[in-house]
Amino acid sequence: MDQIRTRFTERFDLRFPIVCAPMALVTGGKLAGAATQAGGLGILGGGYAGMLGGEPDLETEYGLAGNQPIGIGVITWAAAQNPGVIDWAIAKNPRCLFLSFGDPAAFAAKANDAGIPVFCQVQTLDHARAAIDAGAAVIVAQGTEAGGHGASRSTMPFVPEVADLIAKNAPDTLLLAAGGIADGRGLAASLMLGAGGVLVGSRFWAAAEALSPQPAIDRAIASDGDGTVRTIVADQLRGVAWPDEYSFRMLKNRLTEDWTGRDMEARAQFGAMKDAYDTARANGDFDIVATVVGEAAGLIHDRPEAAEIMQRMAAEASVLLSNGAALVAKG
Ligand SMILES: Cc1cc2nc3c(=O)[nH]c(=O)nc-3n(C[C@H](O)[C@H](O)[C@H](O)COP(=O)(O)O)c2cc1C
Repeated sequence: MDQIRTRFTERFDLRFPIVCAPMALVTGGKLAGAATQAGGLGILGGGYAGMLGGEPDLETEYGLAGNQPIGIGVITWAAAQNPGVIDWAIAKNPRCLFLSFGDPAAFAAKANDAGIPVFCQVQTLDHARAAIDAGAAVIVAQGTEAGGHGASRSTMPFVPEVADLIAKNAPDTLLLAAGGIADGRGLAASLMLGAGGVLVGSRFWAAAEALSPQPAIDRAIASDGDGTVRTIVADQLRGVAWPDEYSFRMLKNRLTEDWTGRDMEARAQFGAMKDAYDTARANGDFDIVATVVGEAAGLIHDRPEAAEIMQRMAAEASVLLSNGAALVAKG
């Protein structure tokens, strides 16, 4: 199978409508470069723009993508505290600037002025309207199934609702679906929902090139979608000041089990476990540290290279899309 063509692949000159998400501490230059080389688009995870501590050096990671054109993504509220990272990103002339979790307006304007397409990941219709106002070239509608941070809308109804909003207000804007998409079934379904492609995190989190620790991947493979939870306690206890509207999907572990139903208490103890969390991260203690994966955990059974993930998804989707026509009875 040579390619899957959508408005998104045409605009960005890709073989497959598959984007590797900019995952903090996970999507380094090797993974982003491999995703682009395999026919999709890889986006370097600029994460917390250095605000978290212990993040990989972005200059080094960007270099590891070689000469593959990749995008750069940042957590917008964190970049607002270190806007130099946006200037750094724009100076690289990336394939896109990916903004998520915060007001995109100021950074989008800078990128648009520099001729760099802006991708805005959104979790509500209000976010989608703000992305349109900010001049986003691509809106990524993220459902609650997603690994990592997100909110409460579900991918299945949220994507077509955003598709309708775009069709009415900004028909040139492109749409990607995100949240729970890890195989060709999810890709084919997303195209039917009105998206021009998919943004995939969890499945690439378990790619050979990802910076993810192997013991965390082993846990995810042994678990399934039921084994994940959306929670605020990990951020509160480790003292990372996420805006209230977002929570974090991760594998259930001892920490989330101990703190179930104790959100207010965790808020009152903001940062109380910072040192313990940092130590647990250094020791690879995933009973405390988050294994950051979405409901797609149940669809992840191995750790292949990014190219293999891309090929499998595209091949499975193209069979499903081709066979779909046979479902329609004639006469
Ligand atoms: C390990 C991990 C880290 C993530 N980090 C970020 C991030 O730094 N910035 C961001 O915009 N999204 C981040 N996300 C969310 C992705 O952009 C995307 O919405 C999500 O992975 C899609 O759902 P899926 O995990 O089911 O594929 C992260 C996701 C995962 C799994």
